[in-house]
Amino acid sequence: MNDMDGAIPLLIPDLPKTDELIPWLQQIDQNQYYSNFGPLVQQFEQAVKTEIPGISAEHHVVSCSSGTAALELMLQALALPVGSKVLVPSYTFIATGLAVLNAGYLPIFADVCDKSWSLTPSIAAKYLLEDDIAAIVPVCTYGAYQDTAAWLEFSQQTSLPIIFDAANAFAVQDIAPNVHACFSLHATKAFGIGEGGLIATTSEVLANQVRRLSSFGLSTDGLSQQPSHNYKLSEYHAAVAHARLQTWSQKKDQLMSLNAYYRRQLAPIDAVILQSLSQETISQVFPIRINDIDQRENLKSTLSAENIEYRHYYAPCLHRHPVFFPYMDEGIEPIVADHLSQSVLCIPFHLHLSDKQLNKLFRTIAKAFDI
Ligand SMILES: Cc1ncc(COP(=O)(O)O)c(C=O)c1O
Repeated sequence: MNDMDGAIPLLIPDLPKTDELIPWLQQIDQNQYYSNFGPLVQQFEQAVKTEIPGISAEHHVVSCSSGTAALELMLQALALPVGSKVLVPSYTFIATGLAVLNAGYLPIFADVCDKSWSLTPSIAAKYLLEDDIAAIVPVCTYGAYQDTAAWLEFSQQTSLPIIFDAANAFAVQDIAPNVHACFSLHATKAFGIGEGGLIATTSEVLANQVRRLSSFGLSTDGLSQQPSHNYKLSEYHAAVAHARLQTWSQKKDQLMSLNAYYRRQLAPIDAVILQSLSQETISQVFPIRINDIDQRENLKSTLSAENIEYRHYYAPCLHRHPVFFPYMDEGIEPIVADHLSQSVLCIPFHLHLSDKQLNKLFRTIAKAFDI
């Protein structure tokens, strides 16, 4: 499959097939509910709790229309003063910074750790000395786990709310009091349903507020108190989510063994650096870092010559996107983030790769490094 012309695509999304969807679509026919927190949405929010590590029955999961919407809703639910400064890593997808702006706050772009490629509590602490930061959005870069215990301690010491952008870290990232997580269910993600997002929090108050803000801000009295949205998940997307849940445990295992296989294949190549903690990820992306520019360019041209797709995600970093220029101050230069945006590239990684394609991929990489 997909190797008719020898091309190897970076990603083929893995979503339920029509047959798997039919029983759930039939439930929609019977329920005659299509949106507005219908039964499939409500059941999914409960059922998915088993997949979020450390979440218990009294914690809260709220669905919405995308991962970006999840971030925006959670940030808005915090009800920080308009224009509050929110620390985000510069090495991330544009959505992280846009969500902060759209929620009415100012993003402050932080550098990231050279090993984990993520914003850590010790890096965040430096920015707190320079700026009046009101909240922090650490990213689970390429789906890598953020240290919840360390962030909980940081939050307790600083009283700052923490929202993990865990877009790529479904089934990996956990939460704690005042340490919330937002997941993406976009088609490209490991648990893809087309478009969708989830918010996980220990706070009932914030969960209720997020739900309200996702539906025009309307309270039971029919009044809306603050600028809000229509960011609800439809019953059709919830149908896909239920079907996805049924095969998820098997898919999760397959992604984890593929990850282990990639690590074994790449281990002999000293020039290929992997993100720390990446062995724990369950994501449909496999990033590798090559610091030497000549080796990197050689790898890229060797992959292209063999029709193997690759991509530099998060390039350029957020502080280089013009949309943010009007809001940016002088600050600590995100030097590591800039370097990662050039030195990290993602190679094909998904469950539709045949053995033949995998052999070709690793033969080509070895050739590029003269191994
Ligand atoms: C780090 C990060 N944050 C946020 C998002 C946005 O998620 P969505 O596409 O579901 O809005 C993505 C999606 O690609 C992402 O990778």
